[in-house]
Amino acid sequence: MVVEKLNSSSANEIQEDPLNSQGLHPDPEKLYYHDKIKLEILKKLVGQSIISVNQFDKELVLEICKFAALLEATEIAESHPLDGKIAITAFFEASTRTRLSFESAVLRLDGKIISIADGKSTGQAKGESLSDIGEMFNAYGDLVIVRHTKTNAIEEIMQNLRIPLINAGNGSGEHPTQALADWFAILKWKPELKGEVKDEDKIHLGILGTPGSMRAVKSFLKMSLLFKDVIKKVSIISELADPLGEELAQDIADSELDFVITNDINEVLSDLDVIYMNSIAFLGDSYKALDSRFKLNAESELKKDAVVLHPLARLEELSPVLDNTNHNLYFTQAHGAVFIRQALFISMLNRFNRLPENIPVIH
Ligand code: CP
Repeated sequence: MVVEKLNSSSANEIQEDPLNSQGLHPDPEKLYYHDKIKLEILKKLVGQSIISVNQFDKELVLEICKFAALLEATEIAESHPLDGKIAITAFFEASTRTRLSFESAVLRLDGKIISIADGKSTGQAKGESLSDIGEMFNAYGDLVIVRHTKTNAIEEIMQNLRIPLINAGNGSGEHPTQALADWFAILKWKPELKGEVKDEDKIHLGILGTPGSMRAVKSFLKMSLLFKDVIKKVSIISELADPLGEELAQDIADSELDFVITNDINEVLSDLDVIYMNSIAFLGDSYKALDSRFKLNAESELKKDAVVLHPLARLEELSPVLDNTNHNLYFTQAHGAVFIRQALFISMLNRFNRLPENIPVIH
């Protein structure tokens, strides 16, 4: 009997794709294959900071998502797009996904990272001002990604900052790159939402959460308004009577979208196509679980093709029972964030000329 020894390469071949575990895995190529990526639109990001979804229009979101899809489907690390660049991740508030996905994005493009994983390890613990910390960032890196518990922290850091900044979550303010990751997942799931769709193909969007006090939900809702032409209706399910606050309420009114606010999930759940959920509201240095009584689990009456998005971390509102179903778009959403962040780095640092020459879809 001949026993074939597994060498290391064949052992690698039989390993499962680590991203191909649970939930939906839409094909990123569908997002850009017949629709070339417009470099002149992406170049609007060169040298810019990303603070709020207010800075984006639909065209720019689409080109970022198409570029991210290309990066997801194509092996470009060998062209070292971020070679010689240093990104600073400055996290003054806890994070699992955002810091690690930004760092993974840089390292996979051959850039370098210096990191603050905890604000207590900085001069802030000795009373140093954020504007002074911002002045220091200028000398140490080419781009800085900041998360902070205070909503006005970004403004303070930017007082002396001369390198581009990405807001990775500021208190109850915004989380704009999360919204890009959210819409990247939706567009991979239904690429036809890039353009015009028939009335019957428009989506009913449900939000289980309180956009006025949850930054990820707020940024998602703001970005969703850019896609109002493909949305049939927005339903907000919240335990608060006023879950929006003044600015968002005005934005929704201006959009003229059909929308309802309810505290009864059963009124709308079975009609929703996309369900965006979250239960964590940030309140300065602490957080509060809001809306966690609205749970999705094995008993939830979801439409057959409905998909669930969640910026995570989850508490008890989203049962792991859904992880292994086709309703699970939240793992795709989290994994895709790496490519969104890569697309932003290449664009903001104008490293398009480092992409491989044989990529045919950019013009
Ligand atoms: N989505 C998100 O912001 O997750 P983290 O808090 O883990 O970064």
